[in-house]
Amino acid sequence: LLENAAAAASSLSHDQLLFLYNGIPYPTTFCSPEVFKALESFEARSDDVILAGYPKSGTNWLSQILNDLIDISQKKTPGREGSANAKELAEFPYLEVGDAEKYERMTKLPSPRFIVTHLRPENLPKSIFKNKVKILLLIRNPKDVATSSYHFSNSMASLPSYETWDDFFTNFTTKKVPWGCYLEYLSEWNKYIDKENIMTVTYEEVKENRALSVKNIAAFFGIPLTEEELQLVVERSSFQSMKKNSEKTHGPMGNIFFRKGGVSDWKNLFSEDQNKKMDKVFEELLGGTKIGKKLKY
Ligand code: A3P
Repeated sequence: LLENAAAAASSLSHDQLLFLYNGIPYPTTFCSPEVFKALESFEARSDDVILAGYPKSGTNWLSQILNDLIDISQKKTPGREGSANAKELAEFPYLEVGDAEKYERMTKLPSPRFIVTHLRPENLPKSIFKNKVKILLLIRNPKDVATSSYHFSNSMASLPSYETWDDFFTNFTTKKVPWGCYLEYLSEWNKYIDKENIMTVTYEEVKENRALSVKNIAAFFGIPLTEEELQLVVERSSFQSMKKNSEKTHGPMGNIFFRKGGVSDWKNLFSEDQNKKMDKVFEELLGGTKIGKKLKY
């Protein structure tokens, strides 16, 4: 998928790399209005496992953890040899990325289907909320998300690139980046944070204590784990292990998904002025909200 997207992007100008759908910019090489249209009638199952997170908030990391948890639970299910899903969905792990026929293919997948999405709640298919599908919502310090996005955009031929950090920062704060403004994304998800089918985790808390996060996530999805299984999931989701396996899991360009894997790298890029500007918008949109407090911003 990444190689195809890069090839498709070579014939597009900087402005053509993004298109607007319902007022939000998306990358032309990964999404399309036809797919968004088809997605509206997507029928979620109550036992789907959904990971929601904005690009660069650590979605590949939590995908690894969830894939392993599903695999462990499936191996204990009579007649199943582990998560077939993990392999089948590897072709299109992101709900809104791919071709319009993928939703038809997804009807044939066995449960539980593992689904990842960068979409805001109001743009997700209604059936997800109607069927009370469990969602793991992953959030990360917006300054680190911006930092990670800047480096990622410049290493992906299929995304717009930026000559300077200042140039990227202007685009990030004026909402001209793929999947739109992250602070607005957080503010929209904040409306759903108290729903019983939603569990929120921060990148920073997983970084601080991976074993505890894995335990809590497994409990939320009703997956029993032995101590040995827990250790396996924890080891396989370390930054070093994922980076080492990146070619196998993500193809020849896999390395770019595993850059530094740390907290507060924003301090190497943000000027004092940019820091203040972001703090101000954060306060306006998220000050006093549950999601804002959880981010320990
Ligand atoms: P950095 O660019 O700050 O290093 P996504 O998967 O949503 O694209 O997010 C990518 C970010 O998650 C990158 O952040 C990447 O390094 C980080 N990441 C990926 N795997 C990780 C892991 N096992 N531990 C910590 N961070 C990880």
